Amino acid sequence: MRPGSLPDRLAARFIELSGTCPNAMSQNDSSPRALPADVDETLALLEAGHYVADRSLSTVLYLSLALGRPLFLEGEAGVGKTEIAKVLAETLGRDLIRLQCYEGLDVASAVYEWDYPRQMIEIRLAEASGDRDRGALQSDIFSERFLLSRPLLNALQPHDAGPPVLLIDELDRTDEPFEAFLLEVLSDYQVTIPELGTIKAPAPPIVIITSNRTREIHDALKRRCTYHWLDYPSAERELEILRVKAPGTPARLSAEIVGFVQKLRETDLFKLPGVAETIDWADALTQLDKVALDPDSIDNTIGVLLKYQDDISKIQDSEAARLLDDVKQEMASLGAA
Ligand SMILES: Nc1ncnc2c1ncn2[C@@H]1O[C@H](COP(=O)(O)OP(=O)(O)OP(=O)(O)O)[C@@H](O)[C@H]1O
Ligand SMILES: [Mg+2]
Repeated sequence: MRPGSLPDRLAARFIELSGTCPNAMSQNDSSPRALPADVDETLALLEAGHYVADRSLSTVLYLSLALGRPLFLEGEAGVGKTEIAKVLAETLGRDLIRLQCYEGLDVASAVYEWDYPRQMIEIRLAEASGDRDRGALQSDIFSERFLLSRPLLNALQPHDAGPPVLLIDELDRTDEPFEAFLLEVLSDYQVTIPELGTIKAPAPPIVIITSNRTREIHDALKRRCTYHWLDYPSAERELEILRVKAPGTPARLSAEIVGFVQKLRETDLFKLPGVAETIDWADALTQLDKVALDPDSIDNTIGVLLKYQDDISKIQDSEAARLLDDVKQEMASLGAA
């Protein structure tokens, strides 16, 4: 390959960046930290958590934190939506509370539930001891002692480390009534429990909502959030992600992997590979001691990248070889330009 071609430049960039890997957060360094003061600090915060963000994501995240609004992240699978909440909690030293959404998610699983078995035992004990004060018993069994907090209520309660990071993951999987309920919670950061009263957060949690857009989320909820569409990364950014997340991958191999995956994303496939698949593929090829891509290695490991048989049969064999050729040619011509 000619010097100065794109793979060479990407490989050089990889090596150059490898020397400046951001410091990992120390395991013990979990004390709460102040929110970033500007976009640059937000970028640095994400970098410290090994998250490679571009300026537009850092800007919208900074604004969400500064304005105290939930961040609504939409994007294809495996582009790093969930990871942002995890990194924020880690780098800010806050608790991470995760509400994984699914069809049929209800208040009992998302907000609170009364601990019925313990309430029954309390009633039996009261009966056995001859305690006949029904009013006192009722207010006792419907007190916080018998309340089981689920993620949303938990996020509204005081935390030693300061307001927690509340991750409401894959909201598009829930049904609309739950979405409407969530809207109420996010409007006032409070929930009302009929038997107990209203519980209000001492300070709003940092809220990250993700969706894979299997259905549209209602405008009313989106209006309360800052919105960001998380796209597949550019080649440069994906290479940087590999440097951080798959540091053992040889530089040349990383550059070719990124080139191939980027090319694959221009192909008509049922499910395009996300960043997660790129990282897995780099790990797999490194595990097989590969230092460069070749058609056979692609064919043998394509299942790490593509997860649908129709997609695999479309790419395997001649198409993989042709794509790899295309990638190399295109990169060489870009390098010559
Ligand atoms: N910009 C990035 N910087 C560093 N790592 C990233 C980045 N984007 C994605 N990753 C990595 O890719 C993997 C997948 O990310 P994540 O689970 O957040 O994706 P997702 O968008 O939530 O996917 P899904 O929709 O399938 O839940 C994680 O291991 C994460 O660390
Ligand atoms: Mg996710």
